[in-house]
Amino acid sequence: MTDIAERLEELRDRGLYRRLHLISGPQGPRVTLDGRPVLLLCSNNYLGLADHPRVRGAAAEAAMRWGAGAGASRLISGNMQLHRSLEDRLATFKGYESALLFGSGYLANTGTIAALAGEGEIIFSDELNHASIIDGCRLSRAETFVYRHGDVEHLAWGLREAGGRGSLIVSDGVFSMDGDIAPLEQLTTLARDHRCRLMIDEAHATGALGPGGRGSVAAAGLSGEVDVVMGTLGKALGSYGAYVCASRELTDHLLNTARSFIFSTAPPPPVIAAGLAALELLESHPHRVERLMENAVTLRTALLAEGLSAGDSSTQIVPVEVGDSTRTMELSERLLERGVFAQGIRPPTVAHGSSRLRFTVMSTHRRGELERAAKLTGAAARELGISGSAKPVAVAA
Ligand SMILES: Cc1ncc(COP(=O)(O)O)c(C=O)c1O
Repeated sequence: MTDIAERLEELRDRGLYRRLHLISGPQGPRVTLDGRPVLLLCSNNYLGLADHPRVRGAAAEAAMRWGAGAGASRLISGNMQLHRSLEDRLATFKGYESALLFGSGYLANTGTIAALAGEGEIIFSDELNHASIIDGCRLSRAETFVYRHGDVEHLAWGLREAGGRGSLIVSDGVFSMDGDIAPLEQLTTLARDHRCRLMIDEAHATGALGPGGRGSVAAAGLSGEVDVVMGTLGKALGSYGAYVCASRELTDHLLNTARSFIFSTAPPPPVIAAGLAALELLESHPHRVERLMENAVTLRTALLAEGLSAGDSSTQIVPVEVGDSTRTMELSERLLERGVFAQGIRPPTVAHGSSRLRFTVMSTHRRGELERAAKLTGAAARELGISGSAKPVAVAA
């Protein structure tokens, strides 16, 4: 048996020990963190909907009208009118025949991937895909071919080598730690040519990209051509939970076989009502999406003026690579002392040697706040001798 104290000590020695910060009050662009006011630059509440009065009101009203919990899984007695309404709205919003809700994005990815591929088949997965995709691949018992990040030549080679055993290509639409966008057109073509299904995770694309925030697949004009589009309610949509959009046949298959759907309690009414209200707000106020992108450009430009590159990011996720984990956390701490909260991201979330500050922008940030945060980051990086622009050599996790 491994000694837990020793394992924790080892994490501390390697600069990988994690602890929880505490936010008092609701989520917003400015929060009270561990008792101090800070500018929040690492939340996925991209459109400011988690703390929006209409979204809060919808959750409160749903709790009074339908109760706090669904009481059972969807297939037993937990399927409520609200679930059906949100699924219909999401399917229409994304341009798909059908949508199926899951308890979280983690559950949606693990359940869906394991339902779509099995022993003897091959899944093709981008090397920077989210951990929930990686775990879904593991759970499926299929072989996984991990192709180099965004490298469609490498993927094409893998598909040719697979000799017809390929069943699924899966990729983040917007990569969660790098903020770059998957080569969706090429992925769609390769999937079609090799008779594989294509699944795109739009956790960070929904509400951020595409017409009215419909996501990266819609932005590329590929709605309906990508077989499976997964998205979450816990980020831009300000609530909690997730959904998969696909043909009715495919969601019916998931309803019958995805273990994380079948064996888990249905999402609670307040959470679903909040998701519905957020979706309505997104549809009626699409300018929030434009504002988010303007803010992202402001931060990236201001960081660049400080000599800090955000790599290949073209979205609201703005990483500044430091490389070393301990130095990353030093930079994060120094910024925190100056009232800016940007979380340091370390292995296993990113590969060894590629630790980074991952800034995330919200539509509710003010331009001046973002410019000031970039200046403070530049100053702190210079004090610590961090260049933040050179790409460190990534070592496999
Ligand atoms: C790309 C991606 N997929 C899936 C998830 C999981 O979603 P959830 O937080 O709803 O479990 C996340 C969340 O961090 C993510 O970034």
